[in-house]
Amino acid sequence: MIVAAIAVSTATSPRAEEQGQALYFGRATDLSPARIGKIEQRGLTCAGCHGRDARGGGEGRSRIPAIHGAALGTTTAERPAYDAARFHRALIEGHDSGGRTMSIAMPRFAMSAVQAEALWRFLATVSDRERTGVSANRIRIGVAATAGDGQAAQRNLDSLSAAWKARGRPAIHGREVDFVAVAVDSLSPASSDATLQPFLLVAPMLDRDGQTTMRLQQAGLPVLAPYGALPADGMPAEIVSLRAGDRGVTAALLALAGPRTSIVADAPLQGGQIEALSVLTPGVPLPAETQRIVLLLGEAGLHSFAAVHRSHLAGRTLVLPLSMVESQPTLVGDLLAVAADVIAARPVGDPLDMRVTAAALEAALIAAGRDLTRTTMLEALRARRQQSAGVEFVRVQR
Ligand code: HEC
Repeated sequence: MIVAAIAVSTATSPRAEEQGQALYFGRATDLSPARIGKIEQRGLTCAGCHGRDARGGGEGRSRIPAIHGAALGTTTAERPAYDAARFHRALIEGHDSGGRTMSIAMPRFAMSAVQAEALWRFLATVSDRERTGVSANRIRIGVAATAGDGQAAQRNLDSLSAAWKARGRPAIHGREVDFVAVAVDSLSPASSDATLQPFLLVAPMLDRDGQTTMRLQQAGLPVLAPYGALPADGMPAEIVSLRAGDRGVTAALLALAGPRTSIVADAPLQGGQIEALSVLTPGVPLPAETQRIVLLLGEAGLHSFAAVHRSHLAGRTLVLPLSMVESQPTLVGDLLAVAADVIAARPVGDPLDMRVTAAALEAALIAAGRDLTRTTMLEALRARRQQSAGVEFVRVQR
């Protein structure tokens, strides 16, 4: 009996942790929404307030406490140590381990004992998880290998290693960096062998249906410089692209708008700067004084724009994303034959330029410091991205 019980508990515990992780990051589908007072609040996640490393943050009255295993397991001046049962009570009733009613800044969660137990187990491991792949003197960086594309993976691994070598193979805060190939399909937060997990993953190819993105998110590790089908509506927090996304390109195009510019769009635009500008739909006549036309259109919109306006583009300049020029060469060629000029914007840098990746990696590792965790690394990468993600303009040749 005892043997069986032990076997069951070791077999199920990684799954419980995995479920706890999904609850913590708000990816679990079986959790009812949090409540503040009587009001349901969707989208409030533990990670959103307590941080992905559960270290909390803030100061004074808006301080959010650390809730990783070590913090909850310690008795403090304010309260005794938590155990799983007290933890469950805190979540559903809002009383801390000493019975004090917590402020409403901490929502209440209708959570089952099984769910609370899963979260509790996850929180016991979260600090270690934030450091897998980092030892006293080494950092393991994984280069993504996708099933069926072994050659690309090897090429990426070789060129990243070469780029790192070209930077002098820097040891950062006393740690050497190792690059290893990591199969994306085998990534799992419950991987039994944490010693083989990379700290961070470089250059995965994202597929159109989002399967790889989902798998990467579940694995919970930072991801740098993805390529392939990058989601247009923004990337999950763990995935950092070093290129400007579609939004960056749109912002750069809009920044070109001056007094004699017309913006033509077939979908509502977001952002403060455009409120002052007038946005036309593809079929509406262009004002006579328009010299420059910024086109933010899908394929269908571009076709109807061409149908209506082709004959009066002489002397005018068209500005649009290069991706549209590439996907509609004939149509754009057609417009180009009439318009004075066509200018296209594209994100700077090849997503697989490993020199750029190596530079970003080194800068972020330096900024993240000796106390390296996935949280500090992600913060450093995002800060770095804001400085470097750019867009360039090219003239489309006739
Ligand atoms: C909207 C922000 C927010 C969200 C979401 C949130 N918390 Fe909290 N949490 C707080 C604040 C603020 C406190 C401190 C409340 C107090 O002490 O009065 C707190 C306190 C706690 C405490 C007590 C810590 C201690 O030292 O006594 C635990 C345990 C806790 N939260 C767990 C969770 C878990 C698990 C989740 C997700 C299921 C979660 N929290 C979601 C803000 C949040």
